[in-house]
Amino acid sequence: MKVDGTAYRSIWPEADGRAVRIIDQTRLPHRFETVRLESLEDAAHAIRAMLVRGAPLIGATGAYGLALGLARDASDAALDEAFRTLLATRPTGANLAWALEDVARTVRPLPPGERAAAAFARAGEICDEDVAINYAIGEHGLGLIRAAAARRQGRLNVLTHCNAGWLATVDWGTALAPIYRAHDAGIEVHVWVDETRPRNQGAHLTAWELGRHGVPHTVIVDNAAGHAMQRGLVDLCIVGTDRTTATGDVCNKIGTYTKALAAHDNGVPFHVALPGPTIDWTVSDGLASIPIEERDASEVQQVWGRTEAGDVAAVAVTAPGSPAANYAFDVTPARLVTGFITERGLAAPDGLGRLFPERLAAAE
Ligand code: MRU
Repeated sequence: MKVDGTAYRSIWPEADGRAVRIIDQTRLPHRFETVRLESLEDAAHAIRAMLVRGAPLIGATGAYGLALGLARDASDAALDEAFRTLLATRPTGANLAWALEDVARTVRPLPPGERAAAAFARAGEICDEDVAINYAIGEHGLGLIRAAAARRQGRLNVLTHCNAGWLATVDWGTALAPIYRAHDAGIEVHVWVDETRPRNQGAHLTAWELGRHGVPHTVIVDNAAGHAMQRGLVDLCIVGTDRTTATGDVCNKIGTYTKALAAHDNGVPFHVALPGPTIDWTVSDGLASIPIEERDASEVQQVWGRTEAGDVAAVAVTAPGSPAANYAFDVTPARLVTGFITERGLAAPDGLGRLFPERLAAAE
């Protein structure tokens, strides 16, 4: 997508072939800065500290991280150690393990001298595949939005949570891809953007992305979504996901579950944009099986923003010493999901196996 007229992906290889460059998402929307990642440690830090975030982009960064690690030491032992280090950075999303396994499977049969280049090339392909997947999600989601807009006859109001836009992927986004496509097709669409405490990915990233593309939107505090739905201000919800079970349980940013409950209570369709690599075919009970990341309490105790002097800084929102818990994700049971928007088309909550039969069979 474009930033001030220049087309960007969220991660791209450097011309010297020895590093990758990312957009530092901890600085947005106040500063647009890019960062060069030259080592396994750089990549692991970028994921852990959330310079990059969003399940598909975490997967892509992990793939490049493995390649950067192999450039320094391509032995079997180093490959295993790099895999473990990267996998431990963020535990909830499915795409990281998927991408690491893909790259490791590609390079393990090769002689060590060929591994780094092969890993770098495979990481690039994973990025291209992600862009194609998200483009297709946009295409299928566009049909859904077009139908909803025809029923609505007027501006269509879509609510989204966190950031599942191009910044969370390599390009296009998942939940936002259909919205960009609808906007570009001339459909009148307005987005309610949940701020998404504690890190405010909605207020910081989704609102910035939508604004850059000219999509009308309004930021609301997380607690306002139920009210908006009761008042008939939301026609449909579209969210992303970090890991979805084969049975349709959706793990996504903390607060997604309560949005799904409110949508269910108010008869608002609740759709989940879901790339194939985000499906975990090995588990069926999301609540029991998906590890929920718990992050540092300081993210709840503080809030980041731009001061009047123009600095980007954190301020305290709790009294010193107030304990805080920071659950980063929650699980929305399949019964609260209206349907999935995948690269292979739309699916009912229990219909993922029919869209991806070969992946279901491989896991059985
Ligand atoms: O903690 P984050 O910012 O990595 O969480 C991101 C989300 O929850 C997104 O909704 C999810 O990764 C889907 S991204 C296309």
